[in-house]
Amino acid sequence: MTASPLPYPLRLTGTGIVLREWRPDDLADLVTLLDEPEIARWTPMPSPFDAESGLAYLKRAYHGRTNGSRIQLAITEDGGRPLGEVLLFGVNADLREAELGYLVGQPYRQRGLASAALAALSGYACGTLRLRRLLLRIDPQNTASTSVARRCGYWLTGEAPIHQEGPYGPIRLETWEYVDGRSGTRPERRGNVAARRYGRR
Ligand SMILES: CC(C)(COP(=O)(O)OP(=O)(O)OC[C@H]1O[C@@H](n2cnc3c(N)ncnc32)[C@H](O)[C@@H]1OP(=O)(O)O)[C@@H](O)C(=O)NCCC(=O)NCCS
Repeated sequence: MTASPLPYPLRLTGTGIVLREWRPDDLADLVTLLDEPEIARWTPMPSPFDAESGLAYLKRAYHGRTNGSRIQLAITEDGGRPLGEVLLFGVNADLREAELGYLVGQPYRQRGLASAALAALSGYACGTLRLRRLLLRIDPQNTASTSVARRCGYWLTGEAPIHQEGPYGPIRLETWEYVDGRSGTRPERRGNVAARRYGRR
């Protein structure tokens, strides 16, 4: 199960999306995607996010992928140009838990991409990796992200919030969870519904 390294390389498909490994030639697209105020506000990315940040990011991603400690995939429509990213990290093999995260580049938002990507990776985590509980940490003011979580079948827990200092002031991260089997509907099916609402197949 999950005590073993996470699979690498990996390619997952969802509704209208292909999740693939980051590649060195993604550098310019990565910088364009991540050098953006909403990403600076809601994620721990450096800001400004320049080519040097991008190189360090790709290097760290590659390291995390090849040592099996995380899944970090580019969100694409067809395996080509990256439009965002979805991650799985912090696996606790004893508890069969892991944390997930996501971001989508500004021009590609509100098209169901984050929902489809989170649904696909959550489905893989429960179905193939046999994880039981998946976690998201989201500031309640980040309504785009809480909508994605809800859309994919995650529920807000009563766990104590995590307080952090962000570039735009304090951040209060609440914990959302998806518990496999609780709702009866796998997250990939929920994400598919979301993507279809945006006219994606
Ligand atoms: C959060 C984020 C990933 C959403 O990506 P996306 O691809 O636009 O999301 P989707 O198109 O799948 O939208 C899913 C739901 O969120 C809602 N939503 C998306 N953007 C929204 C916004 N700016 N305001 C309110 N709701 C929003 C959609 O309407 C949809 O809701 P519905 O299912 O009730 O119709 C994107 O805004 C982003 O990258 N933000 C910056 C980084 C970030 O916050 N990452 C998450 C950290 S916890």
